[in-house]
Amino acid sequence: MKNESDIISLRLLDQTDVVDDFMEWSLDENVSNFFTRGTFLTKKDAKRYITKFIVTHPWFRAICLNGKPIGYICVSPDVGSDRFKGEIGYVLSSKYWGKGIATKAVKMVAATIFVEWPHLVRLEGMVNIDNIRSQRVLEKAGFTREGVLRKYYIFKRKLSDLVMFSLLSTDQLT
Ligand SMILES: CC(C)(COP(=O)(O)OP(=O)(O)OC[C@H]1O[C@@H](n2cnc3c(N)ncnc32)[C@H](O)[C@@H]1OP(=O)(O)O)[C@@H](O)C(=O)NCCC(=O)NCCS
Repeated sequence: MKNESDIISLRLLDQTDVVDDFMEWSLDENVSNFFTRGTFLTKKDAKRYITKFIVTHPWFRAICLNGKPIGYICVSPDVGSDRFKGEIGYVLSSKYWGKGIATKAVKMVAATIFVEWPHLVRLEGMVNIDNIRSQRVLEKAGFTREGVLRKYYIFKRKLSDLVMFSLLSTDQLT
């Protein structure tokens, strides 16, 4: 576990103060094992990415440990679903793994996103079949494991299975 006194919080990312932190998880090879997006080799690339995709994203937050960004969590609306569906995504720098931090961040989002977005009915988590850590995070945060979508997407040039998790606005969280 993290220290009892540690504070986990979520906040908006902006291009001025977090490029170094952003680079830390973007260049982390342990992270990229389970992550489709390419890494950023320069601060300029990272800044451009933050400006183009993060600042304009509908719901994107830094996961902070005692105020320092150590990863992120986002909810992306499904554009084809008339906004009743969204997908959760999250990443942490690997030196912070195994302390319950991602689970805490997912729980924080699950507790507030349906209030913030009253149109949202279904929050999905889609996880590579080999990504046991991430599956565990969603289970611990109260998501339902719905099943395996076989040969569903291409990950690192390989046709791969995906595990579908969901949380509905009507689900009771403990
Ligand atoms: C997925 C990720 C966010 C998890 O973060 P985290 O803070 O380490 O997660 P937590 O500590 O809250 O929980 C991890 C759980 O996985 C378990 N776990 C870790 N390695 C495991 C393994 N090899 N087999 C089984 N369980 C494992 C941990 O024991 C813990 O469960 P527990 O509390 O029941 O013991 C982090 O690994 C990450 O950033 N990975 C790369 C990006 C990624 O995969 N994002 C998700 C895409 S869907």
